[in-house]
Parts: sequence; C-alpha cells; structure tokens
Amino acid sequence: MRFETRYTYDFIKQFLPSECRRILEVGCGTGELAARLSEDGHAVVAIDSDPESIAAARSLGADAHVATWPDFDKGCFDAVLFTRSLHHIHPLDESIKHATNSLVEGGRVIVEDFAYESADEKTLRWFTSTLRLLETTGSLAVSGEVLKTILSKTATMKAWRENHESDLHTAAEIDAQLENVFGPVIREQAAYYFRYAASAISTTEKRDAILQAFAKQEEALSTQGSIVALGRRFVSERAR
Ligand SMILES: C[S@@+](CC[C@H](N)C(=O)[O-])C[C@H]1O[C@@H](n2cnc3c(N)ncnc32)[C@H](O)[C@@H]1O
Repeated sequence: MRFETRYTYDFIKQFLPSECRRILEVGCGTGELAARLSEDGHAVVAIDSDPESIAAARSLGADAHVATWPDFDKGCFDAVLFTRSLHHIHPLDESIKHATNSLVEGGRVIVEDFAYESADEKTLRWFTSTLRLLETTGSLAVSGEVLKTILSKTATMKAWRENHESDLHTAAEIDAQLENVFGPVIREQAAYYFRYAASAISTTEKRDAILQAFAKQEEALSTQGSIVALGRRFVSERAR
C-alpha cells in the first residue's frame, strides 16, 4: 500500500465501528483503500462517478461500481467513507443526509478532506520550499514542466485560490452540514500537502519514506503553530 493510502487507512481503521462488516466508500478513485479494507475481511462496496477509476479499482479486486452520489441506494452500511471526495459532491446537504440514510443505527460516516481555505502565505512558502528541496535532492522524478505545473497551482496565494475556489465545498461547510445532520462531530487535523508531491516522487524504495517525512513535518510544524495543516477529518455516528 502506498504511503498516501496507508495514511488514510490508519485513520479509517481507527474510527470504524467495532462491529463493522459492510462499508461503502464514495469516490473511491482507483480503489486501493477499498481493496485493502476488503482484504481485512470487511464487505466493501466502492463507487466512483469516473468509469476509468472504477476499471482500475476492479483490477485490484474491489467490488467497485460506476455511480454518482447521492444517487446510489444499495441498502444500509456500518460505515460510509468519503475519502477526499466530499468537497466535490453536490448538493452537500443532500449528500450528507443520504449518507445518514445509508447507515445502520450506530453506523458512522468517516470523512477525509482538506481545508483549502485555511492555506496562508507562510504555509505555502513552507510547501514550496519543501518541494524545491526534494527537487534539489533529486527525489522528484518529474520534468521541470510537471513541477512547474504543481507550483503554478500552489506556490502563491493567488494561484492557490484560483486553483481551489471554484465549486469545491470548504471544510467549514462540510463540518457545518455534518453537525446539522448528525449532531456531534469528531474533528481532527491531518497532513495533506504531501499528496500534491505524491504523484511526482519517483517510485524508488525511498518514495514512501520521503512522503512520510513530508507528512510528519506538516504535522509537527502545524502542532507548534508555525504552519496550518491542510487535512481535515470528520467522524459522526447515526443515533441508535
Ligand atoms: C480527489 S479524488 C479521490 C480519490 C480517492 N478516494 C483517493 O483518496 O485517492 C475524488 C474522487 O471522487 C470522485 N467523485 C467526484 N464526485 C463524485 C460523485 N458525485 N459521486 C461519486 N464519485 C465522485 C471523482 O471521480 C474522484 O475519483
């Protein structure tokens, strides 16, 4: 399992209900997480609106289907996961209400997402300099063009906003809707900037170690208040 999936997997496993058989993953992408959770013995149904992603997920053995949330109804699950997908899904209130209706009593919705609205100059400067450092050490296996593209979308506040403020939901909106529908919400901050570098780092044996160090740095610097972590995680439970 690649580091970026393991980072999500560890969080999900921590918050799955104790008796968790049926899991629905919404926006599964290429299905690495769904396949891994299936190997653990959970009955995982994975959906994504993108047919190519679903083909890739199936090739990993996931029970994956092309479907668009909230238009999907296949009974009730012990957990519904939105893994970096909820910020894309409209309408947000209906999507979260449908998640509640797709859960058994005591079932949980578990969300991994990001707060793009939280990015500030100082954090983006740290992010940019970390990418440049990786480039200098030869760890980024990308052409100058690819690196330029990543930086052109992330290096300045102006570029960041232009690239992130289209029709994406903010983490604050997701949080508010979850609270509105479920009541209590468990909230966590997490590392996320390393994900922008993940596709650009060479697949050497050091790849995961580099990404892990990147994530650890974001965790440490945000805990001490030097930067703002980008990742946001939410867990809510359907009342019994
Ligand atoms: C950023 S990707 C995350 C993929 C994967 N979960 C991961 O963490 O790598 C977001 C995924 O959500 C899917 N998606 C977006 N809107 C959707 C919707 N309404 N219903 C189902 N999937 C959706 C996209 O096709 C995409 O694969």
